[in-house]
Amino acid sequence: MSFLGKKIVVTGCSSGIGAKTCELLKQQGAIVIGVDRNTTSLNVDEFFQADLSDPRSIDALIAALPAGTDGLLNVAGLPPTSGAVSVVRVNLLGLKRLTLGYVDKLADGAAIVNVASLAALGWQDAIPAIKAVDKITNFEDTETFCNKHNIDDARSYFFTKEALVVWTMQNRWTWRNRGIRMNCVSPGPVETPILKDFLETLGERAAEDMKVMDRAGTPEDIAPVIIFLASGDSAWIRGTNIACDGGMFNHVQCAMNDLL
Ligand code: NAI
Repeated sequence: MSFLGKKIVVTGCSSGIGAKTCELLKQQGAIVIGVDRNTTSLNVDEFFQADLSDPRSIDALIAALPAGTDGLLNVAGLPPTSGAVSVVRVNLLGLKRLTLGYVDKLADGAAIVNVASLAALGWQDAIPAIKAVDKITNFEDTETFCNKHNIDDARSYFFTKEALVVWTMQNRWTWRNRGIRMNCVSPGPVETPILKDFLETLGERAAEDMKVMDRAGTPEDIAPVIIFLASGDSAWIRGTNIACDGGMFNHVQCAMNDLL
């Protein structure tokens, strides 16, 4: 994989998985354009401060970002402790607004990679809410939407990642005539600043999950998979969700189907 001279936009570049992704991209010769609400100068050639929960900030970002870039890596995300409205706005509505608003400025052949989560594995049970969220055009409607669909703080994280996996599948061929692909990566628990927030919200269930795992993941486990999906080496992978979780997704599948 070489990214020599390729320009890649990475959201969530200031911490955790996003920061590691920027570091590896730089090592492979990419020109990295970082986006985050928190400023950083580490491993980015250019930095844009933006709040992905705010549509005005996102629209200003879209106007300011350079055209002709080769990738948009949507890594930024909030844990459930941030509250349902913020989680839905950043993890889903903001991500979609940025992607749909920026796609015209991407170069033909570019790759879009979304970071979802192991938390998305039950998406089949959330179809009505997933269809309904697609109709939200005004960020101000987020709270009403959450109330209507019983999406509280704890549920919000799962819901946004479920909807993201489905949105990625649905857009498997949306930009095919331009050679633009979109895929996602679903990490299991990863040692970053937000891991403690997940464990706090998920409580006993998370503790049980962690018992069957040999270890938590690290950003070094996840970033290479994101980069693979951004590279030409994954050219025929479209609309796919790759689990990167030490086997946890498959463990849950086996457990649910009496196959342990
Ligand atoms: P992190 O907290 O280290 O990094 C998240 C980054 O997103 C931060 O730099 C933060 O400033 C940025 N961000 C948050 N809200 C923003 C906003 N409104 N506008 C702009 N930037 C914003 O967390 P981590 O773990 O690196 O998370 C990256 C992605 O991986 C997220 O989408 C998360 O949901 C996902 N993920 C993380 C897991 C974990 O256990 N750490 C597990 C599964 C998925």
